[in-house]
Amino acid sequence: MASPHSNTVPPNADGDDADRAGATSAHSAAVDVLLEVRDLHVAFGRHAVLRGLNLVVPRGQTLAVIGESGCGKSVLLKTMIGLIRPTQGQVCFDGRDLAGMSERQLTSTRVRYGYVFQQAALFDSMTVGQNVAFPLRQHSDRSDEEIEQRVLSRLAQVGLPASVAPKKPAELSGGMRKRVGLARALALDPELVLYDEPTTGLDPIMSDVINELIMRTRLSYPVTSIVVTHDMHTARKVADRVVMLYPLARLAEDEPQIIFDGPPSELDRSGDRRVSQFVKGEAGERISELRGA
Ligand SMILES: Nc1ncnc2c1ncn2[C@@H]1O[C@H](COP(=O)(O)OP(=O)(O)O)[C@@H](O)[C@H]1O
Ligand SMILES: [Mg+2]
Repeated sequence: MASPHSNTVPPNADGDDADRAGATSAHSAAVDVLLEVRDLHVAFGRHAVLRGLNLVVPRGQTLAVIGESGCGKSVLLKTMIGLIRPTQGQVCFDGRDLAGMSERQLTSTRVRYGYVFQQAALFDSMTVGQNVAFPLRQHSDRSDEEIEQRVLSRLAQVGLPASVAPKKPAELSGGMRKRVGLARALALDPELVLYDEPTTGLDPIMSDVINELIMRTRLSYPVTSIVVTHDMHTARKVADRVVMLYPLARLAEDEPQIIFDGPPSELDRSGDRRVSQFVKGEAGERISELRGA
């Protein structure tokens, strides 16, 4: 049976053949697509990183992108928001190709997503409050009072007291800085939030706090989230769909780069050894690299 989270389009229950004339029209009838990646290729010079990726992300989905270090997860995330230009193929946000957008359209699209960077990437010279206020000042004409209120409500949302607002990021722990990064990404209630390794470098308890925040955000409004992670606990806990990427260097030319696409509950049932080894944290055939084979 087709899962609602898989890439395949469930046919309309009462749809006739006319409704299913083409994949695209069937898609728009079945799901509200927020982000779509079509035949995406990204290379840096001769170094190909992504090859022929196709992904349809429905509005409201929490998608985890997993895969070993260096397989191209961060490159995919950056390409999805136009920070990296595809070598070939398209990224469509809410039905529009990013490549076809003017600078003005790109700016107005940027307001619609939040990005949580791998290293919290806060402005060190600004206070916590100024960091969270930054997107509000950049992209809206709210009054100082409104901004201050929103900053405090976003900090509260990520479990931080108002007393952290006047502090500098350097005065905070790693987990707190991550939460400030999250508060900043959520400042404008974005439709899409992209998280790059949100729990990397955190202890298990702080990781779980971040996982809970990702889930709570989804409960508070129908946000679409893409979580890049190599933390299986995070993937299983927060995602309703998991996509696993495989490094191109170890694939044959005709093998697809997405080696798993389905709900987390199916990860353990995957017949693909590359998936089950990753999920179990086993080195598999890569152990030979350590032996210098
Ligand atoms: N701006 C860049 N220029 C050249 N190579 C890059 C660039 N960004 C990433 N890469 C390369 O792309 C590959 C995938 O990187 P990345 O997406 O960061 O992996 P990960 O899955 O760990 O997030 C790596 O080999 C990396 O060196
Ligand atoms: Mg990365």
